Amino acid sequence: MSEHDSALGESPKAEPESTLRIGIVTLFPELFGSFVETSMVGRAVKSGNLDVLFEQLREHGLGVHKSVDDTPYGGGPGMVLRVDTMTSAIEALSARMDSPRKILLSPQGKRFEQADARRLSAMGDLLFICGRYEGFDERVRGAVDEELSLGDFVMTGGEVAAMAMIEAIARLRPAVLGNAKSADDESFSAGALEYPQYTRPVEFRGVMVPDILRSGDHGKIDLWRKNASAVRTAERRPDLCDGEKTNETS
Ligand SMILES: C[S@@+](CC[C@H](N)C(=O)[O-])C[C@H]1O[C@@H](n2cnc3c(N)ncnc32)[C@H](O)[C@@H]1O
Repeated sequence: MSEHDSALGESPKAEPESTLRIGIVTLFPELFGSFVETSMVGRAVKSGNLDVLFEQLREHGLGVHKSVDDTPYGGGPGMVLRVDTMTSAIEALSARMDSPRKILLSPQGKRFEQADARRLSAMGDLLFICGRYEGFDERVRGAVDEELSLGDFVMTGGEVAAMAMIEAIARLRPAVLGNAKSADDESFSAGALEYPQYTRPVEFRGVMVPDILRSGDHGKIDLWRKNASAVRTAERRPDLCDGEKTNETS
């Protein structure tokens, strides 16, 4: 995959109006190879509903070694991503997009939730900035619109966080998921966890599918699912029930 090309390196094609355009600044675009070629994301890219652009940070590096990092002022371990090379990469990628919303990936950001996926899925172009090493020179934060974290843990780089967020966002676009209804039924879409699901066989090692789900009575099935969803949410995620946590309500 060429770092400057669209996903899959195909020649540019006419984009459907619904195309979600995503840009990624990274030192490791190759990490995204199978991500943009496989399953839902791969299908969305092939159909033109999703366009993924990469900017190789290294190409903006300085000197013969194309350096993008340096030692921290004040001392301390590790290396910090420079503001000048990072800004150059962000600006170069932005110029290939339509006023993208710039999102810095960082464990110090706001924790990414389904509500953020929903919010970002309704926006225009999105540009994700993946860090490495000890993270970014603080001044990079002045060049972005928001800072998002995948959760309260530290990874080596922002690429896995970018993939997780891109998948959660893209699948909320009706043209990408194909069946908008299935996203509405899922966990968090109505502030609760999804009800238990079953498929064939009816009996597995003595455990049966609940009779009601095979009754054909859709009124009763809906009621059962609502109740099961409430019970499951109360057991596993009481924070979603008592309003401590902000969730989507639509
Ligand atoms: C080793 S981390 C740097 C952590 C930083 N020194 C700190 O303590 O906040 C390197 C990069 O990985 C990415 N990263 C690590 N954990 C992340 C998380 N939970 N969410 C989003 N990005 C993360 C960020 O882009 C970060 O700049």
